[in-house]
Amino acid sequence: SNEAGTDTPRAALVVVANRLAVERTTAADGSAGWQTSPGGLVTALVPIMQAKDGAWVGWHGAPDEELEPFHHDGIDMIPVALSAGEVEEYYEGMSNATFWPLYHDSVAFPEFHREWWDAYVAVNRRFAEAAASAADDNGTVWVQDYQLQLVPSMLREMRPDLRIGFFLHIPFPPSELFQQLPWRRAVLEGLAGADLVGFQVPGAATNFLNLLRRRLGWDTHRQEFVRPDGSRGRAAAYPISIATQAFEDLANSPEVVERAAQIREDLAAETVFLGVDRLDYTKGLRQRVRAFGELFTSGELDPEKVVFVQVATPSRERVEEYKRLRDDIELLVGRINGDSGQLGRPPIHYLHQSFPRDEMAALYRAADVMVVTPLRDGMNLVAKEYVACRSDNDGALVLSEFAGAARELKQAWQVNPYDIDGMKEAILAAGRAGKQETRRRMRALRKQVATHDIDHWAETFLADLDAI
Ligand code: ADP
Ligand code: G6P
Repeated sequence: SNEAGTDTPRAALVVVANRLAVERTTAADGSAGWQTSPGGLVTALVPIMQAKDGAWVGWHGAPDEELEPFHHDGIDMIPVALSAGEVEEYYEGMSNATFWPLYHDSVAFPEFHREWWDAYVAVNRRFAEAAASAADDNGTVWVQDYQLQLVPSMLREMRPDLRIGFFLHIPFPPSELFQQLPWRRAVLEGLAGADLVGFQVPGAATNFLNLLRRRLGWDTHRQEFVRPDGSRGRAAAYPISIATQAFEDLANSPEVVERAAQIREDLAAETVFLGVDRLDYTKGLRQRVRAFGELFTSGELDPEKVVFVQVATPSRERVEEYKRLRDDIELLVGRINGDSGQLGRPPIHYLHQSFPRDEMAALYRAADVMVVTPLRDGMNLVAKEYVACRSDNDGALVLSEFAGAARELKQAWQVNPYDIDGMKEAILAAGRAGKQETRRRMRALRKQVATHDIDHWAETFLADLDAI
């Protein structure tokens, strides 16, 4: 039976995320297809949802299109429709021009607009309703990320029988920044509707609990908080990860090994540096490209022997700050290649494209040094993917201190991405390190990523949620 009276199949475990695992694409001839949605959230959740018999509620990436539930790649997908206006106000506006910059240390200026907030509330309600009709009696609903912070409390009201988890994939800001938000109370109450609120790092959970105490006047004891009705919830850290073994197997497949050799041959360089990011201003691309530019100009990196490959996935292309970033990066790359390149040998290979997973694995295998330097990042899965693909124990990782992953990947060459000279030194050191040192570090990194994979993350979170 289905209380909500819809035809949606009901599941014991429902994941709710702004994005479905796949997004709608339209080919040049007008035919519709599917491709994997961008970003770390989808990378992390796909293997879990393939293994569990759950349902995934989310938006399919195209405006003004109503779709029926469908099955794709072993997952039951329940699409939620957004109008073009909602895409602008809820997704591009409130989610990606307010919450995203505010939660990432305000590295770009967050905008506060009341119409965006109204759209955010309305769309959160739609997701909550979709989850309420998808979840079985006494089932579990696991709400994901900053686009859906009001869903936990809405769902709690609609379906008191459910167990509700929430996980924030991005940083939770220090209270000084969070308090700028005109709707701070509603957001705190929204999140605290969950039985278990998960964050990437312990500091984020502490920030959240402190805000519940100081802003809402709630009691908290260690990780526990008490709502005004006397009910209790918890907030704690669950650092997210990847399907480590699957990545390693992919990287060791004959096709990927061959493709990696081909990439090396095409690049014809002694040393290959690699960057892989969504084209996002939190990723520190301006600083990173500038650092490489200076190293090539000064000759500390020899443009005849060294290449830097930067893959920059198209992202949120209608949001102003992202347009500006793209223009800046393309200007910088063009200038550096113009100054330091030779015929057929640009020192920076810049690819503004999305690639299939096996091509990513081949790139990780082909690189000598992976450079991951976000200004702020909830976790950063690219760093873990690189490590998973290096079963030969070689390859160096340069990693920002301000990525959540820095807490776990201690043996990387860690850098402050705002310090361009320091970053240049680390890039050179990682590139020149001897085999022995590289192996020692990579072995330790691999141990961490092997023992803390995505199954470990999901099992720990769901077990803790179950125990509440
Ligand atoms: P974010 O979630 O902010 O995008 P993460 O590093 O956590 O950052 O996750 C990025 C994910 O997107 C990784 O799984 C990575 O492999 C994938 N990815 C990044 N760039 C590309 C690309 N050009 N093509 C395909 N996948 C990509
Ligand atoms: C990050 C966020 C995800 C988001 C992804 C891609 O990983 O944490 O919630 O889905 O970026 O961004 P997009 O706006 O394209 O969904």
